[in-house]
Order: sequence, then C-alpha cells, then structure tokens
Amino acid sequence: MLQSSPTWRIIVLLAICVAFISTVYTAPVPKPKPKAPAKISLAQLQKAMAGNCPQATTGDAITCKDALPYINAAIKKYKLKSKGQRAAYLANMFYEGGHLKYNHNLVTKSQGTRSIMPAVSLRVFVDANPSVQKLWPGYPGSVVNDSIVEVLIKSRLDFEPGAWWALSGPNCAQTAAKLSGSQASFEAWEKACINGGLDTIAARAIIYKTVYASI
Ligand SMILES: *[C@@H]1O[C@H](CO)[C@@H](O)[C@H](O)[C@H]1NC(C)=O
Repeated sequence: MLQSSPTWRIIVLLAICVAFISTVYTAPVPKPKPKAPAKISLAQLQKAMAGNCPQATTGDAITCKDALPYINAAIKKYKLKSKGQRAAYLANMFYEGGHLKYNHNLVTKSQGTRSIMPAVSLRVFVDANPSVQKLWPGYPGSVVNDSIVEVLIKSRLDFEPGAWWALSGPNCAQTAAKLSGSQASFEAWEKACINGGLDTIAARAIIYKTVYASI
C-alpha cells in the first residue's frame, strides 16, 4: 500500500509541516488599537504657561501640577489627536481663563469653566454629551443654563467643555482638522470655532505660538 512506503510517509509529513507553518504565518495579526492622544507632561505644561502657573490651588486658581491630570483626561476623552488641536485647546483656555486663574467670568457669573464659556455654549456642550447629562436627573427638563457652570465645576468637569468645543463645537471640525504650527491655521480655527466669524485676537495667537512650541 502507498501509506507503507517510506517516501510517501515523508511526503505526508512534509505536507503536514507546510500546512502547520502556513497556519502560523497567516494567523491574523491583531489590529493595533487606535492611538490615544499624546500626554502632556508637567514640564511641557509649565513651559506652555510661560511662567504663569498659579502658586497655589485656591479659589478659582489651580496649580499646573493639579491641573495636569484633568487636562490630559479631557484631551483623551474628547480625542484631541493632533498637536495643533491640543495647543488650540490650551491656548484658548489660557487666554480666556487668565492662565488657570479663573473658572468664572468676573462680571457674568453664569459664564465660566476653564475656557470661560457662556451659559448657552455650556448648554450646547451638555446637550452633545450623554456622559455629562447624567449630572442632571430628569435631563433635559431639569437643566437651567445659568447654573450649568456651577454644576460642572462642582463635578470637576471644568476642563471638559473647552476640550470638547475645540474639535467638536459647532463649526469647529473643519478648521480643527487643519491646525498646525502655522499662525494662519490657528486664526482660521479661532474665527470659525471661537469667535463666530469675528476678528482674531492677537494676544491669543501669541499664546498659541508659545504653547505649540512647548508641547
Ligand atoms: C439655553 O441654551 C440653549 C443652547 O444654546 C438655547 O437654545 C436656549 O434658548 C437657552 N435657554 C434659555 C432659557 O436661555
């Protein structure tokens, strides 16, 4: 019989080996997980803040060290994947909130969180984010625009609205996708996403330049 021939046995054995090896080599390679945004280090944040880190966490002010975990969590949660997006979020927040000194607009108390957003904008943020809506049992009927700022601050979500808005706010996605080291890219984002088509603010663009070079 064929099976008893030694040559035939070797051929069968080789075939099994080849089959085994090709199984090993064609085994599906696990897909790499989507890359999380790069984390900002304390040294980078301090450099980006250009000597403006508050000395203590007291009142509205927060030190760079205390702010860092919230900043990185917000960047991750709202998927600010490019350096330009992270820099735009930080630059706008530093400009609006006096470099981590303020959580409230000094005149209009309903306006605030770290990027000092008006109550109606905070409401847009809440309406777009189911994870945040859980803070209001009976949402949406129970939400009062003017008190959103206090709810978010008390829940330690004050770094979140600005991070969400930078990429996902109304009219932001297109210019956020093009944020780069160029000042023009920041000004285009600022106009479309932050100022509702109004002029740019030179001081904010200068902060962007510093932040982009630091992170
Ligand atoms: C609350 O904010 C939303 C979103 O900006 C707005 O449509 C609505 O009119 C505001 N409500 C009040 C009572 O101001």
